[in-house]
Amino acid sequence: MDRTSLMTGIEKNWEKFLSMPVSEKLPFFSRDSKIYDCLFAQQFDRASLSHIFSVADTLRTITKNKEGMDFAGSLLSHKRAMLYFVQPSTRTFLSFLNACHILGIKTGEIRDTSTSSELKGETPEDTVRTFSSYVDMIIMRHPTPNFVEKTAWLMNRTNRPVPVINGGSGKDQHPTQALLDVYTLHKSFSGEIDNKTIAMVGDLKRGRTVRSLSYLMKNYKNIKLIFISPKEFAMEKDILDFLKKHNIPFYETDNFREGIAQADAVYMTRIQDEHDKNKESAGVDISSFEFKTEHLNIIKKNAVIMHPLPRRSEIDPLVDEDPRAVYWRQERNGMWARAALISHIFSVDGQILKHK
Ligand code: NCD
Repeated sequence: MDRTSLMTGIEKNWEKFLSMPVSEKLPFFSRDSKIYDCLFAQQFDRASLSHIFSVADTLRTITKNKEGMDFAGSLLSHKRAMLYFVQPSTRTFLSFLNACHILGIKTGEIRDTSTSSELKGETPEDTVRTFSSYVDMIIMRHPTPNFVEKTAWLMNRTNRPVPVINGGSGKDQHPTQALLDVYTLHKSFSGEIDNKTIAMVGDLKRGRTVRSLSYLMKNYKNIKLIFISPKEFAMEKDILDFLKKHNIPFYETDNFREGIAQADAVYMTRIQDEHDKNKESAGVDISSFEFKTEHLNIIKKNAVIMHPLPRRSEIDPLVDEDPRAVYWRQERNGMWARAALISHIFSVDGQILKHK
């Protein structure tokens, strides 16, 4: 689809656009049959995932020396990006910032709406539209579900669209976290994600990372999912319906020990109490959903323990010493996976793969 037909074809009413099935919206967020705005985990298919992983692997190899780093830093030195992160972030922000710098992209940032004209009464929509007057890409994290999608929709209806990347939107989606999570599985299991059993633990109801990761599982064969949570924080029906539709078997349990013992990957998460409206989390006992050193004896010998971080008490820091704990590697993988994604969006991924 070319730009003109995209602009005329795009639904002009936001509420109507929002209510369309994701599969029907994807063309508006793609260019040249590939991702342009990265908003949903459903945008990745098996081929694009494996391509992005190869680019990430190549990039990390070639940047081990100055010549390679200079090459990578020249690829997008003509581009500028805005990081609009108005919700707390350490890893996602820093890994995107450094991913941009690896590729030579110059960056600006807003991390607090009190420093922008939103304080003077400007709408968030007008604020983000302003960015596209100055930069070539917007990477954003926002507390309001669907706001990142709304930004991309808005941009695509202007005559100066720029790609928008979702760095976490409310409790809805976190597609690039899912990308780095699967990249971590890929590296941990020597490229073999098929046939694995993955246990997701904690606040599955409001954890956007586990929601996005569940969507990505449709790209692999014979995956089994175990959702381990207190019943108050069980996985939402929309995800369970998606898994049923794609014939991905899952079961839900509150038995932590039994669940993790069967898993090839144990994906721990924290309680997302920033979404509490009436202190819902306060009454829930999560002590039996915490990974302690004693649990190292019951998980499989080749299992991996993951966490999007930040952690609270979900994983005892003593567990970090076990070689199966991969969460610190996982956060570093995020920078490379994000750099690879950005190189793909700006079509310099081919140059990376060709570099000797
Ligand atoms: C996650 C997030 O922000 O959703 N963190 C991250 O991006 N690494 C998970 C969390 O905050 O619990």
